Amino acid sequence: MPLVTTTEMFKKAYEGGYAIGAFNVNNMEIVQGITEAAKEVNAPLILQVSSGARKYAKHTYLVKLVEAAIEETGLPIALHLDHGDSFELCKSCIDGGFTSVMIDGSHLPFEENIKLTKQVVEYAHAHGVVVEGELGRLAGIEDAVNVSEEDAAFTNPDEVEEFVSRTGVDSLAIAIGTSHGAYKFKGEAKLRFDILEEIARRLPGFPIVLHGASSVIPEFVEKVNKYGGNMPGAKGVPEEMLRKAAQSAVCKINIDSDLRLAMTATIREYFALHPDHFDPRQYLGPAREAIKELVKHKLINVLGCAGKA
Ligand code: G3H
Ligand code: 13P
Ligand code: ZN
Repeated sequence: MPLVTTTEMFKKAYEGGYAIGAFNVNNMEIVQGITEAAKEVNAPLILQVSSGARKYAKHTYLVKLVEAAIEETGLPIALHLDHGDSFELCKSCIDGGFTSVMIDGSHLPFEENIKLTKQVVEYAHAHGVVVEGELGRLAGIEDAVNVSEEDAAFTNPDEVEEFVSRTGVDSLAIAIGTSHGAYKFKGEAKLRFDILEEIARRLPGFPIVLHGASSVIPEFVEKVNKYGGNMPGAKGVPEEMLRKAAQSAVCKINIDSDLRLAMTATIREYFALHPDHFDPRQYLGPAREAIKELVKHKLINVLGCAGKA
């Protein structure tokens, strides 16, 4: 099976009341951990690559790793650019075999966001590739964007119909209170489900995307802290909120920090228990296994997409 776009996946997810997991990939062990989990539970997948990941691992290596995973698993997998920040970057990923790109113009004024997103959509659609746009601003840090809490803003439901119809995007990322990274909430976790419901009402049948959806699983934070780490106050989106989102118009849920945390906690523990080991396979193997178990849990218990491939 070749790489697929997200069109069919999102249609089924919307109708079936579940979401597709979009997991960030940076190296072979991460690709293997995620895709082995999806194979075991027969789930469709989106593997996404940030511009930072592309700089780190190089475009061709990541494409070939994902192609190898498709050959090994036979699953429907979409390869997506996460947080594309320019037409040129999106074009390079489209020309280089990605089946989906995000153009993140959320930091731009409305009209400029429309103009840039529309330009990417025209090129992408002419090449059989789908596009995710973004309206509203998440707080947090990612490679290309750093948004302080004061600058973050919920998506305005009054803008979504015009944005979608004028740009022609295939899915829309919205801001309802999640943020990137491991420190999402200072106090109680709160998501604006009222805004999500209003957006879904304005865009019937249209796939919505939730970024910043790691749960920052306490077991892994505790392990990091136990073995020499320092992550006081790390906090993510409670799983029951993600389950609720997955049953709504949200068809794609983005997870990266949880994978990083699972990997780091496992490697920290490994070295604490085996200080004399130095073969990378000895610690990358358990890290890959930790990612696999975590992703299986997400696919079955959080996203609800197990058995939907
Ligand atoms: O939302 C951003 C993702 O977590 C990717 O992070 O840009 O550090 O690769 P990165
Ligand atoms: P997390 O930092 O919550 O994993 O979010 C990842 C994300 O939104 C990637 O685009
Ligand atoms: Zn994101």
